[in-house]
Parts: sequence; structure tokens; C-alpha cells
Amino acid sequence: MKNMYSSIRGTSDFDGSDAFLFGKVNLKSKFILKSFGYEEIILPLLEEEGLFAKGVGQGTDIVERQMFKIEGKDIVLRPEGTAQVVRYYLQNSLNKKSDFYKFFYTGAMFRGERPQKGRLRQFHHIGAEAIGSNSFYLDAEIIDLSLKILDSVGLKERKLIINSLGCKKDKDKFIGLLKADLDKRKKYLCEDCHIRLNKNPLRVLDCKNEECRKQIKSFMKIDSYPQDYLCPRCFDDYKNLIGLLDDLSIKYILDPCLVRGLDYYTNTVFEITSLELGAQNAIGAGGRYNGLIKSLGGPDIPAVGFALGVERILLALGSTSLEPALDIFVVVSGRSLEKVGFQIVRELREAGVNADLDFCGKSLKGQMRLAQKKKASFALIIGEQELAQGSVLFKNMVNSQQEKVARSGILDYCEKNIIFGERGRCQC
Ligand code: HAM
Repeated sequence: MKNMYSSIRGTSDFDGSDAFLFGKVNLKSKFILKSFGYEEIILPLLEEEGLFAKGVGQGTDIVERQMFKIEGKDIVLRPEGTAQVVRYYLQNSLNKKSDFYKFFYTGAMFRGERPQKGRLRQFHHIGAEAIGSNSFYLDAEIIDLSLKILDSVGLKERKLIINSLGCKKDKDKFIGLLKADLDKRKKYLCEDCHIRLNKNPLRVLDCKNEECRKQIKSFMKIDSYPQDYLCPRCFDDYKNLIGLLDDLSIKYILDPCLVRGLDYYTNTVFEITSLELGAQNAIGAGGRYNGLIKSLGGPDIPAVGFALGVERILLALGSTSLEPALDIFVVVSGRSLEKVGFQIVRELREAGVNADLDFCGKSLKGQMRLAQKKKASFALIIGEQELAQGSVLFKNMVNSQQEKVARSGILDYCEKNIIFGERGRCQC
């Protein structure tokens, strides 16, 4: 049969172990986020275009080229969650209700980028935003939290890269100096950097072109940064954060060229990269956005946050043997036993055992094959004769050993023999 429709380029279908892992990453993250005192919010996929133009920045790649707009309306599919959380915060006048909030969110984001491995048009964020404090302890908590989440899913091979852009004044001063310096050496820069220099000079620091990197290096005087560009207060915060990370034994790399592609950042910025990925190696990123709330019409309130990219986490974790498996597949030796089989599956599920059975009238052999395909730990075989004697058969699907068990002792047997491993015990 001809396949009539295919998925849109840059989107993913999750199935089998990927779907399982996707759920697991989300579940573990939520658990950790809650344990750090962050409260879940679920926000819409659609927002006003202006929110991101103003929040993320008119000259950024995201706003300029990547937003999916609903035709004829000033509505877009959200490209990120930070501006959206601030919209929610201001819309509900939360600043008047409490001076400090911690939120987290999970869900799809949309960016019309050129798809490639790890770069999608629809991807998923696990994000956290803490609003109302300028404490460097909060920066440390945000960094620690993002690393804890990665630890919990087994992603240990990664790099944490940190920089400080300073307050708005520091940032403006730095941009002025950068632009003035690079303008003089414009002829050495690539074409893209010519455009960046006019529109968003900080992005020149991201350029991978060798000649551009040479020019940037000579401007940055890497050793002296960031004392040269940060005011004493911002430099103190930066030093304190670094000292705290040292105390917590969190390893990091300081990179004065880390600027991030969203305009709202001030002071601390960070990125976590995976050693397992290629060009698109950032698995998460974040930082302070002390000016964003004010720029979106609110009071002058500081904030900090991060977002992890779920698809990139899955890519970095690689293929896994963690598959959704069943504890028990119930097999009946004849159609007349279907009802008993159905009842036993129901009893098992109510006791928290992951159980299933065949719904297509397969033969005994066919049902056993299905039990194998579903990676069941045991087949529970119901035979006419055994049932008449008040018993059933348990077949261990790994070593093929069989055991006769009393019908009334099924749950007891499960309790003693099933290892509720990675997939956990059913909680319905
Ligand atoms: P971001 O760096 O744009 O930051 O996105 C965070 C993470 O999302 C990236 O590190 C990456 O793992 C993933 N990601 C981004 N774009 C794509 C894509 N096209 N395909 C697959 N994965 C992608 C933000 O969005 C900020 N809102 C983070 C933040 C929260 N800053 C403060 N609070």
C-alpha cells in the first residue's frame, strides 16, 4: 500500500523504547523539579507574536526567521518558554501576590530551523524559571538543578560552560566596545558577521569561521575578561557564583565568548553540552534575564532559569535496552477460557502488575509468540485441566521453567517472583 502521508521534516515520532525513555526523562525531571520547590505550570502552545519579538529580541534568529506564524493572525507557535512564563506571571499580577516564585514546565516548542540531527522544528523543553531574586545562590541552584536532572537520567558525559554578560549597562558597554573594535577590522570578518555586527553584535562571538575567531580573540584579550567589562557588583556576583560551584564540586569551563542567542540574558549565562553529540551539542542552557520582566511591561524584577532539550538528551543517551516490557502475558488454551483470562488480567492490573492478553483469537502457540514479542517476564497459562484442579501454570520466559500455582495464589506468586525494575509498578 502506498504511504499517503509522512511526518513533517524536523518533527519526530516516538515509539517503543524512545517513547518509554521520553516518558522516563519527563517523569524523573518533574520529580526532581518538585523536590527543589518548583511548581508546575502548563501553558498554551499559541502566543502573541509580539511577546517573543519584544521578549526574545527582534534581531534574534528565533524571531527573525524561525517562528511559525498562523496565517493572517499575530499568533505564533511558541518557540521557547521563558517569555511565556513572564507573560503568565505579569498577566496574573503575581508580583503583587508574592515576591518570589519558582515555576517549571515541560512541552513542545517550535522553531522553523533547517532540520538536521539534533535540530528539529518541533522539540521538547523541560524548563524552570525562578522569579524575584538576584542571589547568586539561586544561579547556583538553577545550574545544580539542571545537572541533577541530567544525572538522574544517566547523562554524565557533559560539559558545563559559564560566562557573565553583566547587567544591562555592562552589556551595552561591552557591545559598544566590541562593535567599535570589529568595525575597524570588518574586512576580515565573514559575510554573516557583517550582518551580525549591525543587527546583533554579540552573535559575532558565536561565529565558527576561523578568521572571525582570530579577530574576536584579539579583541577579547581572553585572560583579562570579564573584569574589564563587568561593574564591581556584577563581577562580585560572578566570582561568588564560581566560588560556590567550586565548593559544590561542580566542574565548569569559563568561556568569555558564550553569549547565547536570546537577547534577554544579563549576567550569568550557561550552556551544558554533551560529549556524545556532534554539531548540535547543547543539551540545555539558561541564565539570568534581569531586564525581561520590565521590558514586557512589568516592574524591575530579576529572574533566572534554564531549559533542557529532551530530544538531544535522548540522542546523547543513545539506544537503550530499557524497553517497555510486561510482567505477565496471560495465555489461554481455548476460546472458552477467554473470560477467565480477562478476569485474571484485571486482577493482576489491580494489584499493580503490568499484564496483558491476546485480543485476536490467536492459537496457544500464537499467544506464546506474542508473550515473547512483548518481552513479558512470565506467561501465565490457563489450561482447561489445570483450571478444573484450581491451578494455573507460570512459565518463566527467560529460562523456560514452569511452575504450577494455585489460582488463589497468583498474586502471592507475583509478589515473590516479579522484579519491578525500570518500568516500575503499575499505579492504577
Ligand atoms: P535555548 O538554548 O534556545 O534556550 O534552548 C534550550 C535547549 O533546547 C537547547 O540547549 C537545546 O538542547 C534545545 N533546543 C533548542 N533548539 C532546538 C531545536 N531546534 N531542536 C532540538 N532541540 C533544541 C531557551 O529556549 C531558553 N528559554 C532557556 C532559558 C530558560 N533561559 C532562561 N530560562
